[in-house]
Amino acid sequence: MINVLLNHLILVTTSCVADQIINVGCESNGNKIKPAFHASMVRHPYTFSDPNEILRFEHVWTNIGDGYHSDTGVFIVPRDGLYQIMGTLWSTSGKSCSTTLYKNDSRLNYGYAGTEHAQSNTVHALVILKKNDRIYFKNRGSTSYQCHGNYHSEFSGWFVHE
Ligand SMILES: *[C@@H]1O[C@H](CO)[C@@H](O)[C@H](O)[C@H]1NC(C)=O
Repeated sequence: MINVLLNHLILVTTSCVADQIINVGCESNGNKIKPAFHASMVRHPYTFSDPNEILRFEHVWTNIGDGYHSDTGVFIVPRDGLYQIMGTLWSTSGKSCSTTLYKNDSRLNYGYAGTEHAQSNTVHALVILKKNDRIYFKNRGSTSYQCHGNYHSEFSGWFVHE
């Protein structure tokens, strides 16, 4: 009997319901959500009319916390923390896909996929971010670049740790 009660107590106190009751966590508590997003580039080939255009990954697979904006391509950090950011960019035949990963107006990293068809590169950043920081990929300064859409290029990020 005591065992049963104890098990029940452990179950309840480690569950989300208990968290809500004592108000220390769970996804219903807005600032405790662990943001995560993943989106894919659809338009293909992905050409640029603006040399510094922000890349849009139009199809959203996951968007916990609603930080990723598919209309602009920008992830607006919903919550302070350590985040893993990743992007894989593919090129198309004869053109390179050349990008820069930004946090607000500062470069975090470069991406470059060469001119052979379906060459790709992956860009990582494991960074401490503040709420409202903006993370995005930008075309690296030329309208001659072109990227591979059709669900090949993708952009993701997730909250790791407070
Ligand atoms: C980034 O920009 C946002 C809003 O545009 C601002 O709130 C934030 O403080 C900026 N972050 C840094 C590190 O400058």
